[in-house]
Amino acid sequence: MKTVLITGANRGIGLEFAKQYDAEGAEVIACCRHPEKAEALAALDVRVERLDVTHDESIARLAASLGDVPIDIVISNAGVYGPEEQSTERISPAAFLDTMRVNTLGPLRLAQALKPNLLAGREKKLALLTSKMGSISDSSGGFVAYRASKAALNMVAHTIALEWKKDGIMVALLHPGWVRTDMGGPGATLSPFDSVKGLRVRIAELSPKTNGHFVDYLGREIGW
Ligand SMILES: NC(=O)c1ccc[n+]([C@@H]2O[C@H](COP(=O)([O-])OP(=O)(O)OC[C@H]3O[C@@H](n4cnc5c(N)ncnc54)[C@H](OP(=O)(O)O)[C@@H]3O)[C@@H](O)[C@H]2O)c1
Repeated sequence: MKTVLITGANRGIGLEFAKQYDAEGAEVIACCRHPEKAEALAALDVRVERLDVTHDESIARLAASLGDVPIDIVISNAGVYGPEEQSTERISPAAFLDTMRVNTLGPLRLAQALKPNLLAGREKKLALLTSKMGSISDSSGGFVAYRASKAALNMVAHTIALEWKKDGIMVALLHPGWVRTDMGGPGATLSPFDSVKGLRVRIAELSPKTNGHFVDYLGREIGW
C-alpha cells in the first residue's frame, strides 16, 4: 500500500486528492492548518496532521510527528492567490512577500523537511501544484505576485529535480487546469474530480524521463 502526504488537504484540489487516494486504498496523510475545522477530512479514512507551510516550527512539528515513516508521494498543493491588488503600480511589497512565502518557500521547506521520508518510500515522488500563470512565455500580464511566486516555484522544483535525481527522487510540476474551487471560482471550466483524476495519472506515470517537466493535468507540456 502506498503512502501519500498532501498539503492544503482541507478544501479544493487538496481535499479531492485526499478523497481519490483514500478511495484507491492509499494511506493518506492529510495536512491542513486547522484540523479541528476540517470536517470534510473527518469523513474520510485519513490521518490528519496540522501544517502551516509558512512556519518553520509547524514544519518541524510535522516532521517530528511523522518520524521515519516512509512516504511514497508528497503532494505540495497548499497555495494562495495573493492580495486583491496585484497591479505592478500598486502591489504592496509585504503582500507580495506573503504570497512568495506560501507558494514558493513553503514547498521548498516542505521538500527539505520530508526528503528523508521520501527516500524511505518506494516511489520517491514529489508533486508540486504550480500554475500556467507561472509560465513567462504564456503570460498576458497582471497578477504579478501570484505569477512570480509560481514562476519561482517552477525554478525551485526544476532545481530539486536536477539535484535530487541522484537520490532517486522524481519531481512533477503540475498545472491542474482552471478548477472550480475557492481559488478558481465558480466559473472555472473543470471540476476538482476531473482535474485530480488527470493529475493522479500524471503522478503515476512520472519517470526519470519526465522528471522535472512542467505539464498540465492532461500531460500537455507547458512552456517555461
Ligand atoms: N483552482 C485553480 O484553478 C488553480 C489553477 C492553477 C493552479 N492552482 C494551484 O492549485 C493549488 C490548490 O488550489 P485550490 O484551487 O485548491 O485552492 P483553494 O481552494 O484556495 O485551497 C487552498 C488550500 O491551501 C491551503 N493553504 C493556504 N495557505 C496555507 C498555508 N500557509 N499553510 C498550509 N496550507 C495553506 C488552504 O488552507 P486554509 O483552508 O487553511 O486556507 C487550502 O487548503 C494551489 O497551489 C493553486 O495555486 C489552482
